[in-house]
Amino acid sequence: MHASPMTQLPETNLLLKWFDKYGRRLPWRHIGGAHPNPYHVLVSEFMLQQTTVATVGPYFARFMDAFPTINALGDATDERVYSLWAGLGYYSRARSLHKTAKIIVGEYGGMLPDDRDKLLKLPGIGPYTAASILSLAFNRYAPVVDGNVVRVICRLNGWDMPTSTIMDRIRDAARDMTDPTRPADYASAIMDFGAMVCTPKNPACDTCPLRDYCVAHQNGTVDRIPVILKLKKKEKIGRAYVIKNRGGQIFIRRRTGRGLLAGLYEVPWTDDGAPVIDAPGTDTGIIVTHTFTHIQLTLELHIIECDAPGIDGMFVSPDDLGAYPTSTLMKKAFAALCRAGMI
Ligand code: ADE
Repeated sequence: MHASPMTQLPETNLLLKWFDKYGRRLPWRHIGGAHPNPYHVLVSEFMLQQTTVATVGPYFARFMDAFPTINALGDATDERVYSLWAGLGYYSRARSLHKTAKIIVGEYGGMLPDDRDKLLKLPGIGPYTAASILSLAFNRYAPVVDGNVVRVICRLNGWDMPTSTIMDRIRDAARDMTDPTRPADYASAIMDFGAMVCTPKNPACDTCPLRDYCVAHQNGTVDRIPVILKLKKKEKIGRAYVIKNRGGQIFIRRRTGRGLLAGLYEVPWTDDGAPVIDAPGTDTGIIVTHTFTHIQLTLELHIIECDAPGIDGMFVSPDDLGAYPTSTLMKKAFAALCRAGMI
């Protein structure tokens, strides 16, 4: 827990006054202190990690109908949880939320812990979600720093240097601005302010309650702040091996591990061009490209004729490939091979 400041900045008062008038009434939100049902905060914060408020609305409602309590969620099957998450994307969030619910039921008697260190140990909960939960569910002083907060703080201070080089300063400023007397409402207020007034594009400076305190507004630099340096994606050249047997079937295997593609079916491939099996192949000359979060991948497609590759997996008919869940990368590869009449 952070020590809370004794004084309150005028910006903070103005922000809360604005929130009291214009703050959004959201299904998972309780205004005026700690949420009476921390489980609602837990589910909504997981859903909102990479998804907008507008999209989350109906998903949250259906999820709560299906799993009204944390015990119900803990008892649910993986399939049922996934099916209620389907369409929201980033399925690792559903997996982590389900695991977290089971731990809370098993280890904490179904009560969400109101302790930062305990929250941080739960799957899918990092510093941002821990701070949101502490403030929204328990009305604890826990400064929330997300993209909205970074933007608001940098504009208020007129900071036009790359945000990644001044994160300590941004966090300190966010801490100073957090209201120690109304932490839950403050967390909702700063989120709404970033989404409704101090937006990335076309911010509503004309009606902004903080404009007299905003250095970027005074300097005419609002449109240039925050400065977010994009990571240049690493370029990789990989190779996929389409192993065909004499019957024209294709060898696929289910990807293991915990990564983005875990659980999906694919032909063997590597992101560095290394061989997967010890058999000669032919370069088809076909490439597919795909962009992952940090990687720009170019995949060269090779065909290997082989009946017994000697690695785990199975041969399936090309017509049956659609029955196996696959990644977008594999769909692109299969489509390209199909167009070329190679499968
Ligand atoms: N984004 C993340 N958490 C949120 C919340 N509780 N309300 C609105 N937007 C959010």
